[in-house]
Formats: sequence, structure tokens, C-alpha cells
Amino acid sequence: MIREMVAVIDFGGQYNQLIARRVRECNVYCEIHSYKTDIEEIRKLNPKGIILTGGPNSCYEEGAPTCGAELFSLGVPVLGICYGAQLMTHVLGGKVDKADFREYGRIEVSVDTASPLFSGVNEKTICWMSHNDYIAEPAPGFSISAHTEHCPVAAAENREAGLYAVQFHPEVLHTQEGRTMLRNFAYGVCGCSGDWKMDSFVEESIRTIREKVGDGKVLCALSGGVDSSVAAVLLSKAVGKNLTCVFVDHGLLRKNEGDEVEAVFGPSGDYDLHFIRVNAQERFYSRLRGATEPEEKRKIIGEEFIRVFEEEAKKIGAVDFLVQGTIYPDVVESGVGGESTVIKSHHNVGGLPDYVDFKEIIEPLRMLFKDEVREAGLELGLPPHLVFRQPFPGPGLGVRIVGEVTAEKVRMVQDADAIWREELAAAGWDKKVNQYFAALTNMRSVGVMGDERTYDYAVALRAVTTTDFMTAESAEIPWEVIGRATNRIVNEVEHVNRVLYDCTGKPPATIEFE
Ligand code: XMP
Repeated sequence: MIREMVAVIDFGGQYNQLIARRVRECNVYCEIHSYKTDIEEIRKLNPKGIILTGGPNSCYEEGAPTCGAELFSLGVPVLGICYGAQLMTHVLGGKVDKADFREYGRIEVSVDTASPLFSGVNEKTICWMSHNDYIAEPAPGFSISAHTEHCPVAAAENREAGLYAVQFHPEVLHTQEGRTMLRNFAYGVCGCSGDWKMDSFVEESIRTIREKVGDGKVLCALSGGVDSSVAAVLLSKAVGKNLTCVFVDHGLLRKNEGDEVEAVFGPSGDYDLHFIRVNAQERFYSRLRGATEPEEKRKIIGEEFIRVFEEEAKKIGAVDFLVQGTIYPDVVESGVGGESTVIKSHHNVGGLPDYVDFKEIIEPLRMLFKDEVREAGLELGLPPHLVFRQPFPGPGLGVRIVGEVTAEKVRMVQDADAIWREELAAAGWDKKVNQYFAALTNMRSVGVMGDERTYDYAVALRAVTTTDFMTAESAEIPWEVIGRATNRIVNEVEHVNRVLYDCTGKPPATIEFE
């Protein structure tokens, strides 16, 4: 199927994925490509528009990422953002220089509303700026379409050629009318009609998977997380019983979670597929016995997971396809699409098994951002509680029990966590924080219950607000909510006699405890 596409050319900016997401929010499909991509490749992509990202360099310096002038004469509109704007200016013969006055943060910008880019935008509008260099002189053929107090060229354009340069970042939410500007570019300038819609993506994916798989056999490792669940449902709709989902219950899931996954995907659930649940709790607990070091625990859980999965796969025999729940940020971060460096490589339960006999991998969510995966999940009829699940680490409660993991400790943390979740939900705080859970510390301390001395464990409650999970703040949960949860936990969870609230942000802590 031919779909309208805007190509983001990445010069190493921190907002590359954000630009693509914002454009997709306008219902226009958008892909990120490195600035090193050959011009012929770009031409072949047949984009309706091109966006050049920001980047950390100075475009006039030797060795800075650059592009050829041909990029601007493909007959395709180009929007340069920040570094991209400066590069466009530099390559086309304008002048970029170090700014005397560095602009950073929310800045008032005066725009020419006759510009197609600023149609419908207020004459004075707040934009997000972050630059050391500035456009001293626009390239020949360009006129100035916005300025600030200190920046004579906040935007410039060559309308006939379809070339637009903006010094600020329309993709960042602090730019109050940034969405309008990106929409203006995609629709008004590039002539897109907005054919990127989740219902058609789902329909099209089902059709192409069905064609590809034919009557081949497909194997999927289901974790119950959003990505693998959506991938499984998509496959199930496409190939039905030719799909086998293996769900490894490693005994480190939240309370009742294993049964919840089974209720959705198992024989009495809504989907047509083969569902195999492996109850491997005891295996994991016995492998974890004596392990106290966080990385060692993660490694044990990851390896054991693959081993269990392989054993199940061997019983099934050769399959044609293996499903992976890879999503677009994984693709970009692994360096396939853009230029940004890997910030953090989370190791996940469910890495690629070595000994599973399959011919090809299917990655049905490879093109989707997380929020699009959720949208696809809803479109496919997955229950909202599954679609909007908070993130849960692959090694599960293994990293929420500080020190050695035992079945008894898993029970404690599961029960405490269930109470904490219930109380937060009852107070409406589950919607206001981005991740929340209980962890079990490795500390025992003296308490008194009834008239008895106790020497029991301390549970730590955590709730954080974050947008990207790279940094986070501890949420200011009302005292009475914490108090209610505390009371219930010490009363209902055996061998817990103390409850602590984690006030630490990330950094210096991390969200999980290990
Ligand atoms: P940290 O603890 O590093 O966590 O601040 C950041 C976010 O990542 C989740 N997390 C993981 N997710 N596999 C995952 O899929 C993992 O090994 C893993 N470790 C942490 C964590 O829950 C938080 O949302």
C-alpha cells in the first residue's frame, strides 16, 4: 500500500523521535533516517516532505554532519529545525554565526501569519529555543518570517521552493502552537491528506501477515506486557490457530497476574490461538537461591527465561516464524534509523532464543510508537486495563525484592503491592502518577504487635511522575492515602512490620530498586 510519508533526517538531535511522533499525531506517517542516508535512497522513499532535525554541532565547523544542496531541489518541501535550519541556510549560501546572546527556554516569537507555516498562529507566540548559533543572514531567495528580541531570524522561508527554516523547536510541547505549525507544514505545505490511521494500520497488518504466513506456523513469547499482547492479538487475528503463544510464568509477576494473562489469552479467553502457560515458578526460585547481587539476579532470570522458552519451543518443533514485539523506538535506538546514541540498554526477559528452530522473524509493531501500540491494542479489542498497564520490568519482582529472592518474599511483595495499587486507585492517584509499586527491602527491624515483639521486614512504597522514565520525581501522595495503605499492609501482610515511602527522584535513585 502506498502511504504518504514525511521523512525526518536526523542530525543527532535529542528530539528526533518527538518530531516523528508529533507528525504522526497529525495522521501523517513519518520515518526517521540518518543524515548519512544516500540522496537516492531518500528519493526512493518518495516523501511528501522532509524535516531536518536539530543537532549538537555548529554547521560551519569541519566534520559537522551535513547534507548536499540536492536535498533542497528534490521538489519536496523541506522544514529545517534549529540545526536543520542553520544547515539549510549554510548549504544554500546564507550566513550562520555564533550568537552574542544565547537563547534558551520559552521565548516570545513574533511571526508573520501570512506564512503558510504560521497560518492560524498568534502573531506573538511562545516557542522553545535552545541555540548557541544563529542565522545572521538568510540564504538568497529566503525572507524572514519570524524574529525575537535577540534573534533577527527566528524563521525564514523560500515559499516558491517550499523551503522553511525555524530556529525554535515546534515539536516540543513548550512551543505553544508547535502542533499547528507542524500540521501546517504537513498539510498546507506538503499537501498531505492524513492517511495514517490506526484502524487502517491494523487492517492492513492483518492482511499482509496473513499473506506472508500462509499456513505456516508462528511462535510468540507472551509476557502479558502491552507490546507482546498487542503483537499476539494481531497475529491471532491474522492466522488464528497457526499461532502458538508461550507464556512463561516465572513466579515474579504481580499478584494474580499470571491468571489475568491466562484469562485473556487462554482457552476461555477471546482469541483464537494456541496458548501454553508454563508454570516455572519453582525453577526460577531455585536458580535464584543465594543470589543477592542485582546484575547477577537479572542475568539468572533472563537466561532461565530463554531456557524455559526453548524447551517449550522444542516440544512444538520447527516453526516458520517467531514473533518479536519490537517497537519503533527500539529500532531507532538500536541505530537502524537515526543518529542518536543508546542511552540505556535494558535487558529484557525474552531476548532472542538461540535454539528455537524458525525461519524468519515477524515484528508487527516495528513501525509504531508506544502510544500507537496502545491505540492498536484498543482497536483490536484488548481490555483497557491491559492496554494501559504501567511499565513492568522483564525481571519482574526479582528487581523489587532487594537481596535474595524467596517464594515467601515474593508473596510479601505481591500482597503489599496489591494493597498499594488498590489504595492509590481508590484515591484516584493511579491516574496522576506514571509508575507505582511496592518493593521489599532487605531490612528487618524490631516492632511491636499486640503485646508481642516482632522482628520483620520493611516494605518500601514508590510512586513516581515522569514523562520518559529516564528521569523521574517522587510523587507527593497525600499522607492519608499512604497512611491507609500502611495500616492495611502491616495488618494484612504477614512478616511486614514497617512501611517506608521512597522520596527519592531519579537521579540519584532509579525507579526500580535494583
Ligand atoms: P530504572 O529502574 O532504570 O527504570 O529507573 C526505568 C524504567 O524501566 C523499567 N525497567 C525495565 N524494563 N526490562 C524492562 O523492560 C528491564 O530489565 C527493566 N528494568 C527497569 C522500569 O520499570 C522503569 O519503568
